[in-house]
Amino acid sequence: MHIFRISELSRHIGQEVTVRGWLYNKRSSGKLRFLLVRDGSGIVQTVTFQGDVSEAVFEASDRVTQESSISVTGKVAEDKRSPGGVELQVRDIQIHQIAPEYPISPKEHGSAFLMDHRHLWLRSSKQHAILKIRHEIIRASRDFFDSQGFVLVDAPIFTPAACEGTTTLFETDYFGEKAFLTQSGQLYMEAAAMAVGRAYCFGPTFRAEKSKTRRHLTEFWMIEPEAAFMDLEGDMELAENYVAHIVHRVLDERKEELKVLERDTAPLEAVQTPFPRISYDEAVRILHEKGLPFEYGNDFGAPDETAISENYDRPVMVHRYPAAIKAFYMKKDPADPTKALCVDMLAPEGVGEIIGGGQREDDYDTLLASIDKHGLPVSAFEWYLDLRKYGSVPHAGFGLGIERTVGWICGTPHVRECIPFPRMMHRLTP
Ligand code: 4AD
Ligand code: MG
Repeated sequence: MHIFRISELSRHIGQEVTVRGWLYNKRSSGKLRFLLVRDGSGIVQTVTFQGDVSEAVFEASDRVTQESSISVTGKVAEDKRSPGGVELQVRDIQIHQIAPEYPISPKEHGSAFLMDHRHLWLRSSKQHAILKIRHEIIRASRDFFDSQGFVLVDAPIFTPAACEGTTTLFETDYFGEKAFLTQSGQLYMEAAAMAVGRAYCFGPTFRAEKSKTRRHLTEFWMIEPEAAFMDLEGDMELAENYVAHIVHRVLDERKEELKVLERDTAPLEAVQTPFPRISYDEAVRILHEKGLPFEYGNDFGAPDETAISENYDRPVMVHRYPAAIKAFYMKKDPADPTKALCVDMLAPEGVGEIIGGGQREDDYDTLLASIDKHGLPVSAFEWYLDLRKYGSVPHAGFGLGIERTVGWICGTPHVRECIPFPRMMHRLTP
C-alpha cells in the first residue's frame, strides 16, 4: 500500500495510492459519490462509482459524515479542474471513526460560536491558511536573524519585575513570593547582547490587557532582536530589512494560502525598503493637517495610527516620541532630551503598530534615576543595572508582535484568528 499526503498526489498519476484524512464535504449523483477528503496538506476529490466497488465500500461512501476519519484507496487520475490537479478513483474506503453531526457548517456562524469551537474551527480552510502563513512568518524570522549572526537566546517567562509598565502585569505566586509573567524578553536580550553581540528571543509574552480591541491579546508571541553597538538608525534599518524579508517570503512561499484568504497582494508587493521615517512631531503635524483632534504629547490611538499610515504605501517608522510616554529603559535624544530614541513601525491598511523598539539607556546613573522616577523597585533591577557597570555600550533592539503581523499579511483584521488558541480578557477556553 502506497500512502501519500494529498499534496504529493500530482506526482503519482496513474498509480494506486492511499490517502488518510477527514471528510470535508460530499455530494452524490446517481451511481457516483464524490467525497472531498482533506489531510491538512490539501483537499482531493475522490470519486466512487457503484459499478467499480463492493457493496460495502459503496455503502461506506454513503454512511461517512463530515469530519469522519477515513482512508481512501484508489487510482490517481489527472483532472485539471480539481484543486490539486488530480482526483482519486476509489477502490476501497476504510472508515476509522464516524463523526456525529459536525457543529461547524458552511453557513455563517457568529464569532463567539466559532471561538468556542476554536479546536474544530482550525480545520476550516481559511484557518489553516492563516496557521501556515504564521508558520512561514516564524520560519522566515528565524532564517533572517540566524543569517545575520544573531544568536537565539531564550528569555524566562517568570520574571521578578515589569518591563513595559506595571499596569498590565499578570501576577502569580512563586513559592510565597510574587512573580510576574513576562511582558517582554527585552531586558534579558540586553544581557545576552552584551554576551554574544547580537541576540534574539522568540516566545510568548503576557499583558493583562483589559481592552477588548481587535489587536490586543493577553498572551501573544514576540520576536525580539537586540544588538550591541547599534543606535536608533541601525535599529530602524534592521527592522525594515526584517519586515520586508518576511513579507516577501510569504509572497513567494504561500501563494496558495494567500489565495484561499482572498488577500489582495498588491499592497504587500509594495513593501520595499527603505521604509519612510518620520518623527513623532511630523506625525502629529499629519494628524492636525487632517483635522484630527490629537493632543500633542499623547500616545497615538488606533485611529491616529491609521490616519498617519494612510499617507504611505508601505510601513512607516515613527521615531522620537516624547520620553514621558515611553518606558523607563529608553535612551533620551541628546539633541532634545524630552524625546526618546525610540521607534514604532506602523503597518499600512489600518493595521497600526507592529513593532516597538529603540536605543536603550546605557549610562548607569541616568538609568538608575529613570527606574526611580518610574516608581520601579531598584532591587529588582540590580542585575539590569550591572549591564551598565561592566562594559556598557550603545545598544538597541525591537519587538515585533507576531499576531498583528500575521493579521496584516493575511488581511485578517482581528488578532484572535492569528494565534491557534487566543487568550483575551474574556477568553480562556478552549
Ligand atoms: O511596543 P511593545 O510594548 O514593546 C516592547 O515590549 C519592547 N520591550 C520590545 C523590544 O524592544 N524588545 O510591544 C512590541 C510589539 C507591539 O508593536 C505589538 O506588535 C505587539 O508587540 N504587542 C501586542 N500584540 C498583541 N497583543 C498585545 N496586547 C500586544 N502588546 C504588544
Ligand atoms: Mg508599543
